[in-house]
Amino acid sequence: MSDPKTYPPSADFVERANLQGLDAYRELYEQAKADPERFWGDLALNELTWFRPFSKTLEWDPPFAKWFTGGTINACYNCIDRHLKTDRRTKPALIWEGEPGDQRVITYEELHRLVARFATVLKGLGYRKGDRAVIYMPMIPELPIAMLACARLGIVHSVVFGGFSAEALKARIQDLDAWVVITADGGWRRGKEVRLKGAVDEALEDCPYVRHVVVYKRTGSGIPMKEGRDVWWHEQDDELGAIPQVEEDAEACPAEELDSEHPLYVLYTSGTTGKPKGILHTTAGYLLETSVSMKWVFDLHEDDVYWCTADIGWVTGHSYIVYGPLAAGATSVMYEGAPDYPAFDRFWQIVEKYRVSIFYTSPTAIRALIRQGDQWPNAHDLSSLRVLGSVGEPINPAAWEWYYRVIGKERCPIVDTWWQTETGAIMISAAPGAVALKPGSATLPLPGIVVDIVDADGQILGNNREGYLIIRKPWPSMVRNIWGDPKRFQEQYWSRVPGSYFTGDAARRDDDGYYWILGRVDDVMNVSGHRLSTMEVESALVHHPAVAEAAVVAKPHEITGQAVCAFVTCKKGDWNHDALGQELRQWVAHEIGPFARPEEIRFTDALPKTRSGKIMRRLLREIVTTHAVTGDVTTLEDLTVVSKLASQQEPE
Ligand code: WTA
Repeated sequence: MSDPKTYPPSADFVERANLQGLDAYRELYEQAKADPERFWGDLALNELTWFRPFSKTLEWDPPFAKWFTGGTINACYNCIDRHLKTDRRTKPALIWEGEPGDQRVITYEELHRLVARFATVLKGLGYRKGDRAVIYMPMIPELPIAMLACARLGIVHSVVFGGFSAEALKARIQDLDAWVVITADGGWRRGKEVRLKGAVDEALEDCPYVRHVVVYKRTGSGIPMKEGRDVWWHEQDDELGAIPQVEEDAEACPAEELDSEHPLYVLYTSGTTGKPKGILHTTAGYLLETSVSMKWVFDLHEDDVYWCTADIGWVTGHSYIVYGPLAAGATSVMYEGAPDYPAFDRFWQIVEKYRVSIFYTSPTAIRALIRQGDQWPNAHDLSSLRVLGSVGEPINPAAWEWYYRVIGKERCPIVDTWWQTETGAIMISAAPGAVALKPGSATLPLPGIVVDIVDADGQILGNNREGYLIIRKPWPSMVRNIWGDPKRFQEQYWSRVPGSYFTGDAARRDDDGYYWILGRVDDVMNVSGHRLSTMEVESALVHHPAVAEAAVVAKPHEITGQAVCAFVTCKKGDWNHDALGQELRQWVAHEIGPFARPEEIRFTDALPKTRSGKIMRRLLREIVTTHAVTGDVTTLEDLTVVSKLASQQEPE
């Protein structure tokens, strides 16, 4: 393979960068490698504000890690209160724009007031350290405010993406045993109201133990409130009375002194079974790596205006809209709606308006915008941009080049950041003032992160060999457990290569030590950068009364990277496949959420199975990618099934 073009950092960029030149990166990497505990320990003392410093950096009893033990800390305090003693007090913490065009600029001081007030509301309703709250909200400032208020009190939060259905919401509320749900009447997406409270009501029919639903009025569309359970956010806030001074508020609602390992949040993500996994992140280690990566990867400076376009319902929003940027004292832009509403230049309009300097988005968004043509970005002044980022899925070199040329005007480095819900923070990415870029490669691991590539037996592979990506050493922001399921935690991540974390991604390292991520090796699909398991969609489909069996695979998609393709066999009956196909797509949207809706449903009389009855998804994957089957089919029970499926016309 010919070596792709590389893009070294420009002298101008290096001069101002937090990490200047490859040697600076290497030195830091080597320092961390030589004595990881000292490296992370020193960093934690310098970067975070502690109530009581820790006595031990790491207790590692694989697969269970405890970082910074003996220390006490509070994530909300680190994200807000500590900045109030500095010039950041009056700096915008959040610049928010609603889809209809409404705006709010919230300084650190104001954010503190809002968070302290909402924490007081939660306290007043009887919630305390260790309780669990589910947050199901649109992308409005009250979403991070609710998260931070929980963190302030030590309430474990779980944000459920607003695109998930009532069914998915219910499963998460139940798994977490949450007593309070924080929501809104609705939010705006492509000019339409996404109604959230209705889904909450539906979900709670099977969760009688939920005591309160706190509802923020965003759209004012008029919703039923259940007496004794539902309360309005604004009414609760009014009851607190006149707005007290910041200092008084702080006294009334101080940040709880919490253990370093106190659970901060649980975020559900798709695994290889139908049941999502509750990924547990704790306080100090998570905060350390999310905030320090803001400096290393995004090269954050005091005057930057930083914008991550993710939804807070996914990990990217947790780490890189809320905790990382705020702990690092950044100004973070937040946008409620769709990138193409009212027109395809909404992103560039926002960049121009707020003079965004660091812009972080997904390859799916980039590819969708490429298709609309260069005239949209070209109509805007994008000269404020200086760093561009990509996350969630591999970025193909053509999209990379467009992003670099048309958006960055060949001035802005692109950081392709590889990480996962489980890793909490960015693991592999260029430090833009130090590492030369290669389009399509996430480049090098960050200091303190030790990765390798292994074969199926766990043997470490050399350069240029494709294998499984593993992380060999514990790191502070690592997943601590799967909520309520330590056995699954052990099996899923730590059993392939004992003592090492199994990522589920395939990768290759080139002779420069650069990592090329090749995609998932398990049954996890990646649609528009959203994680979805084949099993989750299959179990939704087989719930439908017409479906006998279903097998789901991902097929390549020009814009969204992958798309969901379902093979379905029906129960006996006279089915109209067109109508049933539509119904099943709708059914999946209802069971999981609209983003999980299969792009394609193929009806078949039989699925390819092994003699022991296992569905051979590998063959189905081949059929949707190459329309033919080349691999070994000797274990197949009925060979004709495959030839029938392969010769089937692709539906329009
Ligand atoms: C994929 C999102 C290639 C990968 C932060 C991983 C990527 C999964 C990249 C995690 C990247 C994420 N290049 N692939 N830069 N970033 N992925 O948990 O397959 O939603 O395992 O976390 O996304 O998705 P998750």
